[in-house]
Amino acid sequence: MEAPVHPGLPLIGSILDLQRDALGTFEKASKLGDIVKLKLPYFKGYVVSSPELIEHVLHDNYKSYGKQTRGYAALRTILGNGLLTSEGPFWLRQRRLAQPAFHREKLGAWGDIMVRATRDLAASWAPRLQSGAAFDVHEEMMRVTLRIVGEALLSTDLTAAAGEVGAALGPLLKVLTERTSRLLPIPDWVPTPANRRLVTGRARLDAVVHTLIAERRATEAGDDLLGMLMAATDADTGERMNDAQLRDEVMTIMLAGHETTANALSWVFVLLGQHPHVEAKLREELATVLAGREPTAADAPKLVYTSAVLHEALRLYPPVWAIARSASVDDAIGGVPVPKGALIFFLPWVVHRRASVWPEPEKFEPARWLPDGQRPKSRCAFMPFSSGPRKCIGDGFALLEGTLVLATLLQRVKLSLVPGQSLEPEPVFTLRPRYGVQVTAASVA
Ligand code: HEM
Repeated sequence: MEAPVHPGLPLIGSILDLQRDALGTFEKASKLGDIVKLKLPYFKGYVVSSPELIEHVLHDNYKSYGKQTRGYAALRTILGNGLLTSEGPFWLRQRRLAQPAFHREKLGAWGDIMVRATRDLAASWAPRLQSGAAFDVHEEMMRVTLRIVGEALLSTDLTAAAGEVGAALGPLLKVLTERTSRLLPIPDWVPTPANRRLVTGRARLDAVVHTLIAERRATEAGDDLLGMLMAATDADTGERMNDAQLRDEVMTIMLAGHETTANALSWVFVLLGQHPHVEAKLREELATVLAGREPTAADAPKLVYTSAVLHEALRLYPPVWAIARSASVDDAIGGVPVPKGALIFFLPWVVHRRASVWPEPEKFEPARWLPDGQRPKSRCAFMPFSSGPRKCIGDGFALLEGTLVLATLLQRVKLSLVPGQSLEPEPVFTLRPRYGVQVTAASVA
């Protein structure tokens, strides 16, 4: 069986379309079938859009699909060989080392950190509440999620580094994204403006991570993720993890652990601003469940509607909008032969907005997520955290964080979107609001 082909130009295929409008190009391709051939220079590419076929790649036959993709090659220039980018037995060992740091028993302590950080953030807005000055809530979410991941998993106060990390990350994400759809690969050592931005950005992030590791080496190892990684010894050699490996793992947790959640929260504020009746319902739930007191992790399961709003935002604006794998052997997906080396793309953005999977897919409808809501059964119909053995290690952390940050903030403030702004998603590695999210804040006390 042959897959339908998304038309492209001779030689360069769809590369220019992807550079110009990646979301639109993948959307158009996905309309042609469950698995569609995408013309690309150098590679055979397939867009897989039915949850059942994605299950084949991420679950049933996951050993035949790896992370030798252009996207992951670009990420490795920053993250090195950490938990997100590594593969095979090495990845499995690191994942097993890290997993206990995400145990459910940590939820209580994480909850306290999440609520405290959000309370401080809201307090820092006091002058804006008074003046009514507009600000970018996306930037604020980046700041608070960085502080949270720093305190909860690395026992480090990253507040002072937030400006540096944010300033380095924006341009880096653009440079790395350009690399994934470039026609000709340019080696890192060629001093193009993009390569210079890469080197500078990486150096700024390295400085933050190296300081963090050095400070921690000077103190006792704790039972957070960083402490566990530092204390772990190799079963065969008895050796501890060296600084280079530790750097890759810390960089991964620091970046993967905050930017995605910040995007999710920013899109929640966009959607709430556009759907006041949903916000009113959410506030009703906060008033009933919390009755004015601060939330804790124990409240999260009771904040059913708050969590539904977060899930629905993750459906409509999945922070990781595209995932790719490379076939490490010849295989077949849905009866279509897929040769070794082919790139397989599956997009949470596309799957989450497919009418055959989600009725009225464009509609923001948190009720889908309530206990009696109608949801598709497939494990890959909702995949903001991916699925299968390489699923996000921080999914529980992120969902708790999203719920508690939202609850704590909305108890204190009412955000209003500044009218007339463009709230367009920018598909760099993550789905960011291209121009930020300008809001004004008022006190609700
Ligand atoms: C809303 C927030 C988040 C989203 C949407 C998200 C999404 C994802 C996705 C889609 C993957 C799989 C990528 C692939 O298969 O190619 C992933 C992996 C990963 N995420 Fe997250 N993530 C979020 C929050 C977090 C947090 C809070 C942390 C850390 C505390 C984290 C750490 C990681 C790591 C280490 C991996 C690699 C796991 C492995 O391969 O073993 N993420 N994430």
